[in-house]
Amino acid sequence: MITDDFEALLDDLAEALVRDGYRILPLHLPSGLTDRLWQELQDLPDNELKVAGIGRQDDFQLNRDIRRDKIHWFTGETATQQDFLDWMEQLRAGLNRRLFLGLFDYESHFASYGPGAFYKKHLDAFKNLSSPLQANRVLSTVLYLNRDWQPGDGGELLLFNDDDTCLLETVTPDYGKLIIFLSERFPHEVAVARRERQSIAGWFRTQGAL
Ligand code: OGA
Ligand code: MN
Repeated sequence: MITDDFEALLDDLAEALVRDGYRILPLHLPSGLTDRLWQELQDLPDNELKVAGIGRQDDFQLNRDIRRDKIHWFTGETATQQDFLDWMEQLRAGLNRRLFLGLFDYESHFASYGPGAFYKKHLDAFKNLSSPLQANRVLSTVLYLNRDWQPGDGGELLLFNDDDTCLLETVTPDYGKLIIFLSERFPHEVAVARRERQSIAGWFRTQGAL
């Protein structure tokens, strides 16, 4: 059901994306859903979390130099995942109505950064390399699932401006916080986490012809 609150959230989000290209929201998913997502990640057997790649799966060492998180892709295999995907689907449809971004689908995964893990500076999509034949990431989302994150725990998301000359935001990965940003626009990195850091990363994509 789409409530007035949700419509207000969409208005706010659309405005921020046009103005700044990103928005950081404190707890916005239904709190029960956030708790269920957190619980599902705690219950996930270790072997369901895999070393994440960067598109060159064969080069294990290169991957390790760039990112050290472990991930589990969402398939909608549980009611909890389905409810999360439904919420994101409402966001997708609502943003398309307001911004005509042509968002077609959403892919997402749990991510877990063990102590010492990081993700070096990168972009989630590349303007010049994107082909109309390929689905392209347009909007990135990260939902954080860490209770009582302390200043010494590290693991901040550092968001830089388009031409990578200044730091725009230092985002602590606090429980329920959601960041949404234009995938092609902002170089970003995850600082070394000093304790386990958990999240759900996702991307709204355009449709590719292939
Ligand atoms: C990613 C990413 C940021 C974060 O998974 O591509 O940049 O704060 N994650 O977890
Ligand atoms: Mn990223």
